[in-house]
Amino acid sequence: MRSVYCGQLKAANIDEEVTLCGWVDRRRDHGGVIFIDLRDREGIVQVVFDPDGEENFALADKVRPEYVLQVKGKVRARDAATVNPNMATGEVEVYGTGLEILNSAETPPFQLDSHITVGEDVRLRYRYIDLRRQEMQKNLYFRSKVTTAIRNYMDENGFLDIETPILTRATPEGARDYLVPSRTHEGQFFALPQSPQLFKQLLMVSGFDRYYQIAKCFRDEDLRADRQPEFTQIDIETSFMDEEGIMSVTEGMIRKLFQDLQGVDLGEFDRMPYSEAIEKYGSDKPDLRIPLEMVDIKDLMKDVEFKVFSGPANDPKGRVTAMKVPKGGEIPRKKVDAYTKFVSIYGAKGLAYIKVNDKDDLENGLQSPIVKFLPAEVCRAILDRVEADNGDLIFFGADTHKIVTEALGALRCKLGEDLNLYTRDWAPLWVVDFPMFEATDNGGLTALHHPFTAPSCSPEELQANPAEALSRAYDMVLNGTELGGGSVRIHDQGMQQAVFQILGIEEDEQREKFGFLLDALKYGAPPHGGLAFGLDRLIMLMTGSESIRDVIAFPKTQTAACVMTDAPGSVGADQLKDLHIRLRAKPQAQEQKSESQTK
Ligand code: AMO
Ligand code: AMP
Repeated sequence: MRSVYCGQLKAANIDEEVTLCGWVDRRRDHGGVIFIDLRDREGIVQVVFDPDGEENFALADKVRPEYVLQVKGKVRARDAATVNPNMATGEVEVYGTGLEILNSAETPPFQLDSHITVGEDVRLRYRYIDLRRQEMQKNLYFRSKVTTAIRNYMDENGFLDIETPILTRATPEGARDYLVPSRTHEGQFFALPQSPQLFKQLLMVSGFDRYYQIAKCFRDEDLRADRQPEFTQIDIETSFMDEEGIMSVTEGMIRKLFQDLQGVDLGEFDRMPYSEAIEKYGSDKPDLRIPLEMVDIKDLMKDVEFKVFSGPANDPKGRVTAMKVPKGGEIPRKKVDAYTKFVSIYGAKGLAYIKVNDKDDLENGLQSPIVKFLPAEVCRAILDRVEADNGDLIFFGADTHKIVTEALGALRCKLGEDLNLYTRDWAPLWVVDFPMFEATDNGGLTALHHPFTAPSCSPEELQANPAEALSRAYDMVLNGTELGGGSVRIHDQGMQQAVFQILGIEEDEQREKFGFLLDALKYGAPPHGGLAFGLDRLIMLMTGSESIRDVIAFPKTQTAACVMTDAPGSVGADQLKDLHIRLRAKPQAQEQKSESQTK
């Protein structure tokens, strides 16, 4: 029906007869001449109808925004005065010689330009219209280019694309499962995969050696701007490769995507141990575009009279730290108060500060609510340690290690954004040397990554000192977002048993949850490891989108629902009966729901 896309016309097409198909973006009547901006997925071109083409002109007069048209016409140059430099096709227009209205359209519920005046719920309800907007078209177009480039890269590097089941058992990624009741097995449920983790390890046992999949994953967890309940991973697993090999091949992929699709050279990625990320940046996914760092001053505060600082300084679980904001002296008092409120979200009881007016005049040159509590030599030591200059502002955190780290880590990102402190566009990074375990609230240990991650030490060393053990896990971080993570896995039964023992996973539970994987490890499992990237997050970063929802065609809302299809929805009694399900009476069900939400 068409000879060329609207958005592809340019000066080279002048004098060509073309047939276009698309939607009416705008129609303007200019004293006897009708201009129609016709839009398709490639862009927009201006079509002109004048009264000489009688029948077409009368039809053109009838069209309204979002009508679907087929237009025949001749491409011609625009007058110099009417060339539109803001439009890719702005040098040309199409003189319409034929017009067919393929379909009419009701007035759309919102205007399809970049100035969105409606809430996201309306956009999501009419997603098929929202997706016509240029921004959304561009994002999904780009996403398709990325997945194609990924497939090419993986193929060139010898990876096989293998699908794994969606109806499966619970997978160990730590979120809640989405469950699917079985009709043929009364009272039993499938779980949708939180990731293909177990299957990809089994594929290694089967000898496929290099696997990848662009895989849908499902996690019933609290949603944020970079989280969806249903999302896509670029999932990768390899055999006979150590962490260096895996990081090199996956870093190569990300570098190539940025180079080929954005013209950006990311260079070689930095590496940082987890402990350094936490101590300096207060996050396991530090945004290294921001030049602020936390500097510990615990040793300086042990003997000061100011209890707010000396308390945590003398507590093994405490942390006292300073963070210098170069030229931060210009931050108004009101803003400092707002930051104090901001850190309170993370449990911080205050946010002490020193404004350095004159670093050489300790008596009058420091503006601060706390210097009166600190001896001069301590003030001097702080200024020296953070290398303060006149005009700087130093923030302080003193509390438990956890509170200070989280509060100042978050403040660091907020300051970076508010004061636009970014020193570069892209800051890729590998975080390595993660601990194997983290402490749970009830005093036990839980796997920081997942229980199949290999430790960097022997089973004996692991058992002797589990809390200190490091793992062979790695995360790729880009601009403060965790883009992907993975590890070398345990391929040895003895080591796997040691880890389960430390995690307090008894034999019954091991068999029930992962029996098939443990069995597989007995039958010649090769050394293996892998990684998974969040595809949606990658696209979000590459397109500069604010929300993951802007790079997914049909995303879920913040409450994990689809307002367009009205899912989840209720089902009929017959269907429930087939599935052996009886619903509880409503009030009780609601009570349960609110109970589980507060847990
Ligand atoms: P992990 O749980 O770290 O690892 O997930 C890998 C990557 O997936 C992305 N991601 C998400 N994206 C959007 N919405 C979500 N709810 C969401 N959850 C995770 C993140 C994350 O870095 N099986 C392991 C990988 C491995 O060990 O190979 C896994 O799933 O970008
Ligand atoms: P106060 O003595 O409580 O008035 O606190 C004096 C200064 O210390 C104020 O600027 C508080 O914001 C700050 N402050 C109080 N508690 C803490 C804390 N735990 N960490 C950092 N600063 C704090």
